[in-house]
Parts: sequence; structure tokens; C-alpha cells
Amino acid sequence: ARLPVAATDITSSAHSLITIIPPTQKRTPKDFIFGKVIGEGSFSMVYLAKDIHTNKEYAIKVCEKRHIIKEKKSEYVKREKEVLNMLGSAKHSFVRLFCTFQDIERLYFVLSYAKNGELLPYINKVGSFDIECTKFYSAEILHGLEYLHGLGIIHRDLKPENILLDEKMHVLITDFGSSKILKEVPEKGEINVLGEQQQCERRNSFVGTAQYVSPELLTDKTTSRASDLWALGCIIYQMVAGLPPFRSRSEYLVFQKILNLEYELPDGFCELARDLVGKLLVLEPSKRLGASDEHGSGYPSIRLHSFFINVDFETLHEQIPPPIY
Ligand code: ADE
Repeated sequence: ARLPVAATDITSSAHSLITIIPPTQKRTPKDFIFGKVIGEGSFSMVYLAKDIHTNKEYAIKVCEKRHIIKEKKSEYVKREKEVLNMLGSAKHSFVRLFCTFQDIERLYFVLSYAKNGELLPYINKVGSFDIECTKFYSAEILHGLEYLHGLGIIHRDLKPENILLDEKMHVLITDFGSSKILKEVPEKGEINVLGEQQQCERRNSFVGTAQYVSPELLTDKTTSRASDLWALGCIIYQMVAGLPPFRSRSEYLVFQKILNLEYELPDGFCELARDLVGKLLVLEPSKRLGASDEHGSGYPSIRLHSFFINVDFETLHEQIPPPIY
């Protein structure tokens, strides 16, 4: 099969009209040069790869079919693709899915390459973020969550490893393998025959990472948008304090601390951040800040918290992020 004509193919005939024909055929691994490993999941590897036709860099997530079937993860892979496709028209905040293809053994997801990698090593390297940095990155994560939740998607595994940074140090949320797509949310005034309980609080199998997991997932195996707000509270705490709020030598002990809301605020922890974190890390999900905000209109009650004073949420992606040091 003839490969689609790309910009680099035309350089030899200088007089030809340069038209870039978008690829209509399915891509194959041969369309890319695979480089180093830039991420590793329980059933996938992420490679830096270069499109041989355009020289553009991508992050390609590769899943081995045999492994997915053996580990019964097909649903997760399907969900991830579905969510990434739903996010296709989002201009910012998320890793984009450009295309997918497969060979006999593997599935390939061609994703945007976040040049600056994960948020986690930045927090670890500097020990903790100053307030300007914490404000900016919390605001970008919140902005992403507003969009995601507006579409009825709960991430369910939000953590600093899943917050990537692009070449300009803006946030790209990734890893939607654990996410959940809520059934159509009725308009205000419409009657939902299933009831709010049915759509938001069906029992789910365990997903998430111990330190960021919400108490409701541990007690009654339920999740709602508010579970992501809990994780946001944990991440804001971590940016300020340098470490996540609930930590211990075993997963079991971490869960105990979460269920007892047992966390300490180090000396000098910014007062406004303490107040915000305290309003997100609330055991009862419906009592978390933002939980009562109307679906689809973002989280005005979080945006309006004094911690975010002077943050212009609408232009975040055009702003120059404050330097991290
Ligand atoms: N690690 C995992 N996914 C990535 C991506 N899209 N860009 C950079 N690093 C990654």
C-alpha cells in the first residue's frame, strides 16, 4: 500500500505544489521510529517515537494483547480509548490521542508527547512548591477536572504521576485506564428514573492508587466526581508539603489513615492552602468543596476560594507558568 504523501516526501521535487495530505490509511509501527521508554504501566509501555513522514514526536503507548487478556484488562483499554476519543476536541489539559493501530501481538495508542514528563519528579526535586507554583498547577488541574467532569468522566486515578507537563510546562492529564464514564446526566428539572444513586454510586471494583484513593471507595466501593476532588486535595497538599498527606509503610496503614482522616500539617503550611485542603479532604463526599456545584458549570466554589485569588482560570493555558525552584 502506498503511504500518504507527507511534507518531507516533497522536498526532492522543489517545484511541486506542497500539499500535505492527511493520512487516510491506518498507520503501522513502520510509520514511526521507536525510541526510549518514557513510561511504564502494569500492562503497557510508553515509548517516545518519531513519525518518519513528519518528524513529529509522539508518545506511543503499547499494550501486549496476550497480557491484557491474561490479566483481564480489556475493559480498561477500551475505556481509555473511549475517554481519549471523547477528549479529542479539548484544546488543553489532556494528552491527545492522534490515532490507534495494532499488529498481531500489540495495540498502539499514538499520544501527544509531554516533553517535560511527570509532575512528581518536579515536586520531589525542589522538596515543595512555593505558593505561586502550587496555585498555578492546582488551577490547571482543577480546570482540567472541570472539563472532564462536565463530560461525565471521573478519572479515578489522579496523582502527580498522571499529571504530565508539555514543552511549555502546562498540565496534560493522562492515564484514563481507570476512569469511569457516567450515564447521561439529566438536565436540570428532568427526572432521572434511575435516580442519582444509580448513575453515580454503582459499586465498582477497586481502582486507584493507595495514597490518593478516596475514603468512599474504601468503605462502600463507590465513586463520584467528588472522588477526584479528594485526589485534588491530596495533590495540593503534596505540592505544599512535598509529600502526600496519607503515608505509611503499608497500603493497609495508608487506608487506615485515610479512613480516620489522619494527616498532619507541617509547620509553615500556607494558611489558605490549609483551608482549601481541609475543605477537599472531607470524608463525606457530598460535603467536599465543589460537590454541590451544578454539573457542567465547573467548580465555582473551588475557584472562588481565597487560595485562588487573582487566578484567571480562563487564560491559564496562555499564561507563562511560574518557574519551579
Ligand atoms: N509518559 C507516559 N505518557 C507520556 C506522554 N504522553 N508523554 C511523556 N511521557 C509520558
